[in-house]
Amino acid sequence: MASAHEQVVPAKDGTAQLGLSSKLLRKPWYLFWRLLGDSLYKDREYSLHVPDGYRTLTPWFNIGNGEPFSTLIKSVHAGGPLSTSLDRCYQLYQFARRSALLDGHMAECGVYTGGTAHLLALTLERFGNAPAKLHLFDTFTGMPECSDPQRDYHSPGAFSDTSLSAVEHRLSAASSCAIIHPGIIPATFAEVEDGSRFSFVHIDVDNYPTVDACCRWFWPKLVSGGTMIFGDYGMYPYRHSTRAAVDAFFANESEKPLLLPTGQALLLKQ
Ligand SMILES: C[S@@+](CC[C@H](N)C(=O)[O-])C[C@H]1O[C@@H](n2cnc3c(N)ncnc32)[C@H](O)[C@@H]1O
Repeated sequence: MASAHEQVVPAKDGTAQLGLSSKLLRKPWYLFWRLLGDSLYKDREYSLHVPDGYRTLTPWFNIGNGEPFSTLIKSVHAGGPLSTSLDRCYQLYQFARRSALLDGHMAECGVYTGGTAHLLALTLERFGNAPAKLHLFDTFTGMPECSDPQRDYHSPGAFSDTSLSAVEHRLSAASSCAIIHPGIIPATFAEVEDGSRFSFVHIDVDNYPTVDACCRWFWPKLVSGGTMIFGDYGMYPYRHSTRAAVDAFFANESEKPLLLPTGQALLLKQ
């Protein structure tokens, strides 16, 4: 069911897109929740789980606890903007940390200002083995023309308030393991050395054709035990883009997407 801020406009082909008013209300809506979270959840080791009423371990809120995640996320915040919520960052961190023990590189498709890329670079550097690299793919000029307004929540040009030089500067100051591939996915996949294998891939591109291209290219290259995580899979505005593309691809595979309570989807390769 659509939440109050999301006015759903049925599209001609039977899909549904979100109306302009929903998009305009997005920023104040999330600002409200950010303020509420900061006042009720900040620094809590255990937090109230809504609507069940029990308290669960929430290390992502407890940034002063001295654990590796809190140290890494403080460095990420100091390095620049972070547009992904802390609970989702924690999932990325714990699965990347686990994957860092495997052979293979890591990758992120959809980098924007480099917040989650920064976290992955620090995680790989701290817990990984030296030859492994973090491959990063984005236009760095915003969503490309391939996004379809009937399906995809963001229009072409969204996320253009970033730049390749800013992300390069941010990541080179943090670690030496990042390799940046600016340009349109999937063309930029050709820059990766033939035969490369991956232990961890974060796909956060928010449009159907790019999610589909990422699945086709990365899934066969994922090592046994490796992880793929899709940001926004379970988020309502992305049900016709990320979720539809992931479900269509994995309908023909033996592994199926595992839904995390954060809205991300996880694939663990057998
Ligand atoms: C939601 S943002 C990524 C957020 C980022 N992971 C973070 O935490 O800040 C989505 C990004 O995907 C990129 N993107 C989407 N489709 C793409 C494509 N076909 N080629 C390259 N970049 C693409 C956009 O440029 C945008 O920066």
